[in-house]
Amino acid sequence: MTGDADERALAAEDRMTDDERFSLLVSVMGVSDLITVRDERIPDGTPMSAGYVPGVPRLGVPALLMSDASLGVTNPGYREGDTATALPAGIALGASFNPALARESGGVVGREARSRGFNVLLAGGINLARDPRNGRNFEYISEDPLLSAALVAESISGIQAEGVISTIKHFSLNCNETNRHWLDAIIDPAAHRESDLLAFEIAIERAQPGSVMTAYNKINGGYAGENSELIQGVLKGAWDYPGWVMSDWGATAGWEFALSGLDQDCGCQIDVLMWGAEAFGQSLRDAYANGRLPKERLSEMVRRILRSMYAVGVDRWGAPPEVDMARHNEIALEAARQGIVLLKNDGALPLAPDSSPRIAVIGGHAQVGVPAGTGSTAVVPPGGYAEVIRVGGPSFMGATRNLYLLPSSPVAEITKLLPQAQVEFDPGMSPAEAALLARRSDVVIVFGIRVEGEGFDSADLSLPWGQDAVIEAVAAANPNTIVVLETGNPVAMPWRDNVKAIIEAWYPGQAGGQAIAEILTGAINPSGRLPVTFPADLAQTPRPDLPSMGEPWGTPATIEYGEGAEVGYRWFAQQREQPLYGFGHGLSYTRFDYSDLLVLGGDTITATFAVTNTGDRQGADVPQVYLTGAPDGARMRLLGFERVDLKPGESKQVTVTADPRLLARFDSEAGQWRIAAGTYRVALGSAADTLSLTAETALQAALFGR
Ligand code: BGC
Repeated sequence: MTGDADERALAAEDRMTDDERFSLLVSVMGVSDLITVRDERIPDGTPMSAGYVPGVPRLGVPALLMSDASLGVTNPGYREGDTATALPAGIALGASFNPALARESGGVVGREARSRGFNVLLAGGINLARDPRNGRNFEYISEDPLLSAALVAESISGIQAEGVISTIKHFSLNCNETNRHWLDAIIDPAAHRESDLLAFEIAIERAQPGSVMTAYNKINGGYAGENSELIQGVLKGAWDYPGWVMSDWGATAGWEFALSGLDQDCGCQIDVLMWGAEAFGQSLRDAYANGRLPKERLSEMVRRILRSMYAVGVDRWGAPPEVDMARHNEIALEAARQGIVLLKNDGALPLAPDSSPRIAVIGGHAQVGVPAGTGSTAVVPPGGYAEVIRVGGPSFMGATRNLYLLPSSPVAEITKLLPQAQVEFDPGMSPAEAALLARRSDVVIVFGIRVEGEGFDSADLSLPWGQDAVIEAVAAANPNTIVVLETGNPVAMPWRDNVKAIIEAWYPGQAGGQAIAEILTGAINPSGRLPVTFPADLAQTPRPDLPSMGEPWGTPATIEYGEGAEVGYRWFAQQREQPLYGFGHGLSYTRFDYSDLLVLGGDTITATFAVTNTGDRQGADVPQVYLTGAPDGARMRLLGFERVDLKPGESKQVTVTADPRLLARFDSEAGQWRIAAGTYRVALGSAADTLSLTAETALQAALFGR
C-alpha cells in the first residue's frame, strides 16, 4: 500500500507542469476573524478554513483543505453557523493515560472533518510541557515523551483511519508562547533526542502522520523551518520520514527554507504581514528559474505531499461518513470523566447523593458553562458558545484571546444529580460577598479558572481576577470547601491546606459540566492522573524567570533549555525537589495495592506486577514503571504505564516492556542510542514521587537506532 503510494507519487509528479508543482507548495488561509479579505486562489464554494491548496484535477490529485483540529474541528469565523464536537483539552486527554480513548477522540475529529470535506487536520500537538506558564500546554499532552507519544500516536491513527491526513506539530521546542516568532530555543542536541524529539520519533513511528508541522521558534540559532539539522538530518534522515514538512502559519521567512527541507509554506498571507512577502511564491519560482532551487528538490517537495495523500487515501473518498453527534458527545463526556484529576480529598468527596445539603457554588461562571482554551484550537460546540467574553491583550494575538464558555453548566448538572440539595450560586466577584453565601451553606464548591492560550504565557501560577482571595475567604467562612480548578496548567494553591478537596478538571470540553458533577457526586469514580508536575513554586522549576516575559511582541529572546532531557518529574527527581503534586498523581474513591514486582533485563527491561483494587468500589488505576538508576548516570524515566479498571477485590497482572530508547542515552558522536552494560534500578508507583516497589536488573551493552 505505501510502496504503491511512493510509486504513484513518483508517476504523478513526473507528469506535472512546473506551475502545478509550485501550486502544491503554498497553503492559503480562508476568510476568518484574522484574514478578512478573500484570496483569489480559493475557488468559490470552497469551505473556508485554515488552509487551501489547489489540486491537479487532470491527474486526479484532490485539493487539500486544512483545518485545525486537536480538540475538534475549529471555526474561528470561517463558516457561519458551523459547529463541531468540542473535546476536552489535550492535557485532559493526557491525564486519562488512555491510548484507546485518544484513538476514539481522533476518530471524532476525523469523521467530523471528513463530513465537511477537510482532508488535512492540523492535529497531533506534542510539544512537551517544559514550563507551567506555557499558554499552549493545554493543547498538548504532557511533560513526558512516552506518554505524549503513546496518546498522540493513537489520536493521529484515529484521524487517519477516517482517510484524513493528520499532522504532528510543532517540530520542535515551541514550548513557550512569549515572543514565539523571535524565540531561540537552545538545547543540547543529545538531550533534545532524549526528550522532545523522542516524543516525535515514537509517535511518528507508530502513527505515520502524513505531515509534520514545524514550529515558529528558532532552535539553536536557526528557525525550525530552516533547521536542516533537524529536518534533513533527524526527521528525513535518521528517521527516514517519508511524508511532507509544512510550516506553521506565517512561519516561513524566506524561500531558502526549501533548501533546508521545508516542503510547504502555510498561512502564506501571514508571511506577508511577518516578513513582507510570500516565501514560496514568486521568490521560490525565481530561485528555481535561476538554478538556486534544484529541480530534484522541487520534485521531492511535491512527491512527499502526493505520497501522504495516496498513503492516507484522500484521493479515494467515497460518500461522506455518517456522523453520530450524540455518540461523539458521549466520547467527549467519557474523555472529560477520565481526564479529571482528584488532587486532594480529606473525606469531603463524594458528596452523598441522598442527603439534602445547602450547596454554595461559587465563581468560574459555573452557572453558564465551562471554559475552553483560546487560540487556534477553539471549537464552537453544537448550539454555539454559552458565552464569549473578550479578554484581549497586547500584540495582535490579543484579538484572539477570549474566555470561551462551553454550554455545560456545572451548577445545572450538580442540581440535576443532587435533586434534594439546595444549590445556590455566587459569582465570586468579591471575597466578602462570596463568604456570605459560604457561611450559610453546608458545602462550598468554589471554581478557579484561567484563560490560557496561544500567543500568551502566564506571568505566574496564580489564579487571575482575585480568585485566590475568594477561595481563601470562602474556606475561612466554611471548612467544608471543595475547589474545582479549570485551568490549562498547574496553578499555585496558597489555600491548599484550608480546603477539604481539590479537583483539576482542566478545560473539560462540551460535556465538562456533567463530568465534574458526576465526579463530585461519586456517580463516576475519578481516575485521571497528572500528566504534568505541579510545582510548589516557580523557584523549583528550571527557569524561575522566563526570558523576555513582559517585553513587547517582536523582542528577540533566547531561552536556554538547560534542563535538557530532564523535563518535569525528571527535573524534580534530579534536583530532589518535592512538588506540590507529582507527575502521575491522582486519587480515587477506592484504593489500589501493588505486589509481586518482577523485573527482567537483557536487551530491555520487562516489569511484571499485580495491581489489586482493595477498596469497596470499582475504579481505574494507572500504575507506572520508572527507571530510577542506571550505570551511566542517575536519571528518572517513565518506562511504561497501564490504565486498569478493576472491580472491588479484583486483581490484574500487568506487564510493561520498556522501549530501549528510554533506557539509553543518545550518543551524538556515534549518532546512535547507547545502553551501558550494568545494573538498572526500576520502581513501580502511583506517581513519580510515590514509588512503592523497587527492583534491580542487568542490561547488556547495546548501540542501536539512529
Ligand atoms: C498555530 C498552529 C495552527 C495554525 C493554523 C498557528 O497559529 O500555531 O498550531 O495549526 O495556526 O491555524
